[in-house]
Amino acid sequence: MTLLVRDLAQVATPATGAGAPIRGRALRDVHVVEDAFVLCEEGEIAAVGPMRELASLELGDVEELDGRGLCAIPGLVDCHTHPCFLGDRVGEFALRAGGASYEELHAAGGGILSTVRATRAGSADDLRAAVERHRSWMLRAGTTTFEGKSGYGLDRDTELASLEAVAAAGGVPTWLGAHAVPPEFDDADAYLDFALAEVLPDAAELVQAADVFVEQGAFDLQQARRYLEACRDVGLALRLHGDQFTELGAVGLAIELGARSIDHLEATGGAGVRALAASEVAAVLLPASALFLDRPMPPARALADAGAAIVLATDFNPGSAFCESLPLVCSLACTQLHLAPEEALAACTVNAAHVLGLADRRGRIAAGFDADLVLLDAPDWRHLAYHLGGELVATVVQRGAVAWAR
Ligand code: NIG
Ligand code: FE
Repeated sequence: MTLLVRDLAQVATPATGAGAPIRGRALRDVHVVEDAFVLCEEGEIAAVGPMRELASLELGDVEELDGRGLCAIPGLVDCHTHPCFLGDRVGEFALRAGGASYEELHAAGGGILSTVRATRAGSADDLRAAVERHRSWMLRAGTTTFEGKSGYGLDRDTELASLEAVAAAGGVPTWLGAHAVPPEFDDADAYLDFALAEVLPDAAELVQAADVFVEQGAFDLQQARRYLEACRDVGLALRLHGDQFTELGAVGLAIELGARSIDHLEATGGAGVRALAASEVAAVLLPASALFLDRPMPPARALADAGAAIVLATDFNPGSAFCESLPLVCSLACTQLHLAPEEALAACTVNAAHVLGLADRRGRIAAGFDADLVLLDAPDWRHLAYHLGGELVATVVQRGAVAWAR
């Protein structure tokens, strides 16, 4: 099938040629074509350019999409979400509004463990339906590639069903086998004995990456090392939830083990910023989570200026970030993290694709890439960040076909 998106006000994409991930000044290199078209063939981008060059192309049978008044950006890539859950935490949200803290609720057996209880109580079909529902919310916000973590099962069957549900919804599953210690185990080490012996061998068949929550009340540095080394030994890429509330040394561990990313970083200080910038580990920033929990924002400006590979994601989950919108995250990136719109765009497209090992096909509008586009109802692509919530996404094209239209 051939789809021609024509008469677009702008096509904007992180510049090609810079490789991935993009760092430093190059993060601001967005390539903009005015009065433009994008031609998609067999799910890939065949050509992109100004309308005046369209005449020189041999076009057979094409379906046309009118892009007048719209801007095309690459389909957004959300490289950090937790969509495999049942129930919600709106009650806790109300308690937090009244002054309770996230850590207090967690320590009292609420928080992540309350979602674990709700998730275990459902069937695999319930989980599949939940992930599909969450995926459709993401799609409407412009996300065409999503990563989804397990971590609300923490028993063998629910963890594997979670990973299968993400794959069934077209996502990239990540095994978050070390998210919390479930109540049937006395301590984190006993739980890890089980998870590494009983779950890892099957999880490794379903995923390319594993993740761990390094935090007081979750997994300490030594436990995280044990979990990550076991995952690395079976060939998985490594990711960490680190420095969300406490700087426990997760940055150093991530660098030492050659992790793909460390995510959160709200508590990261100057030494961590410098170490990350000098490393290959991507820094995944989750400003919706910091906002939702009323926590300090991560040192994004310092990371970007020091040369770190910065990435933006939603952290979509029922407790710390009930937010599926990367455009909203881009807005927060500009107003709260002081990133430029250009840096925000690169951070949730090409750099996020890098974290998922997909940067050769996703995150840019260029010939040969997957034909994933978001058409923004705006005369300038920077409305992506300028428009604080609201009706911004007009149409989403996924693998060369319209997947959602307003
Ligand atoms: O990334 N911090 C740990 N995990 C999630 C929150 C999970 C939850 O509260 O249910 C996060 O913020
Ligand atoms: Fe998370």
